[in-house]
Amino acid sequence: MRAAPAALERVVPLLRCPLCGSGVESGESGVRCGRGHSFDRARHGYLTLLGARGRRFPGDSAEQVAARERVLGSGLFDAVADALAAAARDALLDRPRPVVLDAGAGTGFYLDRVAGDLVDVSGIGTEISVAAARRLARVNPHVAALVVDTWDGLPLTDGCVDLVQVVFAPRNPAEFARVLRPGGTLVVAIPGPGHLEPLRTESGMLTPAADKAEKLAADLAGAFEPGPVRVVDATAPVAAAVAVDLALMGPSGVHLDRARVEQDIGSEPRPVRVHVEVRSYRRSLQQ
Ligand SMILES: C[S@@+](CC[C@H](N)C(=O)[O-])C[C@H]1O[C@@H](n2cnc3c(N)ncnc32)[C@H](O)[C@@H]1O
Repeated sequence: MRAAPAALERVVPLLRCPLCGSGVESGESGVRCGRGHSFDRARHGYLTLLGARGRRFPGDSAEQVAARERVLGSGLFDAVADALAAAARDALLDRPRPVVLDAGAGTGFYLDRVAGDLVDVSGIGTEISVAAARRLARVNPHVAALVVDTWDGLPLTDGCVDLVQVVFAPRNPAEFARVLRPGGTLVVAIPGPGHLEPLRTESGMLTPAADKAEKLAADLAGAFEPGPVRVVDATAPVAAAVAVDLALMGPSGVHLDRARVEQDIGSEPRPVRVHVEVRSYRRSLQQ
């Protein structure tokens, strides 16, 4: 049996069984709880910890994940990674050996950047997509990859995380509040109103809801107090191939046909605006 990645071993004490909530221990092929529920580690290095409802949807496809990896590798979103890293640094100044969770972490691009900036960090990336989890499992030696459905709850013990980050991914505020220690930090990145324009409109991508910031504030009211907001807003020309991947990597990718998008975009570089809000919140001390 292949040895578990060290990052996974390190976070086992923070895990709880997604079926019964009891603590888990490492076994030869994965983890096992005191009541006998066992969860195998994949040979790709990630651990699947889905609850009783199992996998209800696949998450991003292998094609979407590959497109996302190419786009992120182009440097277009580096300023967003920098903003997330700055938010994490500020929040974790006084935390030795911080635990950072990225929910819906995709390829792990942002978690890698954030973890790379911190000393003695334990990173946990969760994903519903197996294609994404495979990449997450090898993105950084300090990052453990878990297949988890954010909507179904997080297989982590109460108050064990110092910082949760969620980048363009589903949120479960009650679970984020539960796993964060009191005074811990939630960092959420959401698209601003001009994000990916004019490409978004021209290539038929879905438009983000206009009230994203208001909805976020309402979702988090009670358990979280708003903190600093970092805004990334820059327009740069991107190669046509990157523009095609941009159109196909997100939720719109499911509805769009690659050949049609390639035809619409053509072969010339296109201007693309990256407009993203990185919002930090403090987990209230009271609850
Ligand atoms: C738009 S992508 C963002 C990925 C990554 N945060 C990034 O910005 O590069 C959303 C990700 O959330 C994952 N996802 C969707 N629903 C999920 C759920 N219920 N639980 C966990 N992951 C989910 C998808 O598989 C996808 O990788």
